[in-house]
Amino acid sequence: MADLIAPEELMLGIETSCDDTGVAIVRPDGTVVASAVASQVELHDRYGGVYPEMASRAHVDAILPTVRKVLDDAGLTPADLTAIGVTRGPGLIGSLVVGTNSAVGLADGWGLPVYGVNHLRGHLRSADLDERRVTYPAMVLLVSGGHTLLAHVQENGDVELVGSTRDDSVGEAYDKVARMLGLGYPGGPAIDRLAKTGTPDVDLPRPGRDLELDFSFSGLKSAVSRFLAAHPDHPPENVAASFVEACLDVLLSKCRKALEQYPSRCLVVVGGVAASPQLRERAAALCTATGVELCLPPLRWATDNGAMIGLAAWDYRARGLQERPRPSTSLTIADW
Ligand code: KG4
Ligand code: ZN
Repeated sequence: MADLIAPEELMLGIETSCDDTGVAIVRPDGTVVASAVASQVELHDRYGGVYPEMASRAHVDAILPTVRKVLDDAGLTPADLTAIGVTRGPGLIGSLVVGTNSAVGLADGWGLPVYGVNHLRGHLRSADLDERRVTYPAMVLLVSGGHTLLAHVQENGDVELVGSTRDDSVGEAYDKVARMLGLGYPGGPAIDRLAKTGTPDVDLPRPGRDLELDFSFSGLKSAVSRFLAAHPDHPPENVAASFVEACLDVLLSKCRKALEQYPSRCLVVVGGVAASPQLRERAAALCTATGVELCLPPLRWATDNGAMIGLAAWDYRARGLQERPRPSTSLTIADW
């Protein structure tokens, strides 16, 4: 789709759906000219999770300086930009409103078109940042703090949602188990590090076997909580290792099933949890065994960032989808 657009064109991508203010300048071929993420981790750490109102306020403070930084880093001015893409959902409503209002203000002031981008389509396109990797049809495993889903994607951007979580997302389960183990927020990277030093000696359930391609993680999280209450002195690294192994068994068995049911040239693993080295290794092993290609975003593009929104915005431009970005908390991955 993006081939129709001249490669020297530049999209400003803005992401504020949750707790990070991400801004980037991206070419239609996925080249990232500049990118910056203003992290709010320290702000939310003391609450053990994202405090929505604080997140909105922090976006207000960070958004214009982050846009300026990216333009300065790239040695560009607003006049060099072709258009703006901004996350319109799903996410925290206050954070989305700050992002979309700011983007509309900048677009009006600079005389640029502005596209409201589905955050989930941004994650999907993150696998083509820096270089084109995805071949179609593709099976996409999207694992983030807000979502856990499997989608079958065609080259023209058509998406069929084939499985999703019935309760918690896997990222949420990581964050909650991290909290139980006193590891702070966000929990994913901390759990990964601890798990690497442990032995998976705790017998935890693999929930969702009877759910076809849907997932369920709340039972696993509760099982960890019950185990810790009964065995407070069990080595935490072994609990973390057992939890990670249970999550990965569930994720990879569903991926295998999905690849059997939906002919796919590649498996794409995206979203914050795609930064997990254990998940990357297990996905690689599955792809070797099944003969499909593996497409992973570079680590820095797995968690929320402006570049993935910028690249996705080129698809909206190619489809002529421009309208005032309307924030929406309820978009699915099949929506534009
Ligand atoms: O995609 P993302 O940045 O934000 C959402 O759209 O939700 O994902 C954030 C989630 C958090 O739950 C975080 O704990 C998890 O991704 N995460 C990880 C890792 N890095 C971030 N989970 C496992 N391993 C990691 N290295
Ligand atoms: Zn995300």
